[in-house]
Amino acid sequence: MSENGKTTHFGFKDVAEDQKAGLVHGVFTSVASKYDIMNDVMSMGIHRVWKDAMMDWLAPRPGQRLLDVAGGTGDISFRFLKRAPGAKSVVLDMTESMLVEGRKRAEAAQMADSLDWVTGDAMQLPFEDNQFDVYTISFGIRNVTRIQDALSEAYRVLKPGGRLMVLEFSQLPNPMMQKAYDLYSFNVIPRMGQMIAGDHDSYQYLVESIRKFPDQDTFAQMIRTAGFSNVKYRNLTMGIAALHSGWKL
Ligand SMILES: C[S@@+](CC[C@H](N)C(=O)[O-])C[C@H]1O[C@@H](n2cnc3c(N)ncnc32)[C@H](O)[C@@H]1O
Repeated sequence: MSENGKTTHFGFKDVAEDQKAGLVHGVFTSVASKYDIMNDVMSMGIHRVWKDAMMDWLAPRPGQRLLDVAGGTGDISFRFLKRAPGAKSVVLDMTESMLVEGRKRAEAAQMADSLDWVTGDAMQLPFEDNQFDVYTISFGIRNVTRIQDALSEAYRVLKPGGRLMVLEFSQLPNPMMQKAYDLYSFNVIPRMGQMIAGDHDSYQYLVESIRKFPDQDTFAQMIRTAGFSNVKYRNLTMGIAALHSGWKL
């Protein structure tokens, strides 16, 4: 148990609350160099379609300032900057080796001038209030120990009129489809992780963590609780993933 006596989940395991961030950090340190290729293989490229759908709904505008939390290797920031001339992005992540991979990609794409890379925690952002036009978090929030704290921080650092958008795995509404999806994710993904990244356990955690994340309506309510208005969601690929949007008004 943690010093405050609280426990949380790490995949299907119960752990002390103050141990979870270290375990998540271990997972992403281990997978960082193979993260991008594994995303393409595991999702058969569909994560790209979901990230493009996120941009379609977000409609980035020239000159906006984006904070991309749990931004990892930079997928969301690169897409945002390509659609919004003169925009700037801060990619924040708690795993330095994910940011290192992202920086290499930014150099290769000659986008480094529009990007800052910051090591930090979604639950305690190292920024003043009212700084950003847009806050994104893509496939990151389910790994955060106290999700409600991260949402409150998102609200705090957004300017009035700013927008939150979350892309995350979600729940399929149909039990038959959920069963088929579980068969794939629990049997295939950890084995692929072993074959491609030499790491079965990290990918076992990833699929378990998807199951522990709240469903679409519950998560939408958590976003409202953090203070956001006009909260809406859209399912992607029948609910395998979902986009959630909210405004700081
Ligand atoms: C699955 S990756 C997502 C990367 C990228 N956003 C994408 O969509 O491809 C999840 C990232 O969340 C980061 N992360 C997890 N918990 C975090 C926290 N509390 N604060 C900041 N980053 C966190 C991990 O280090 C990891 O890089």
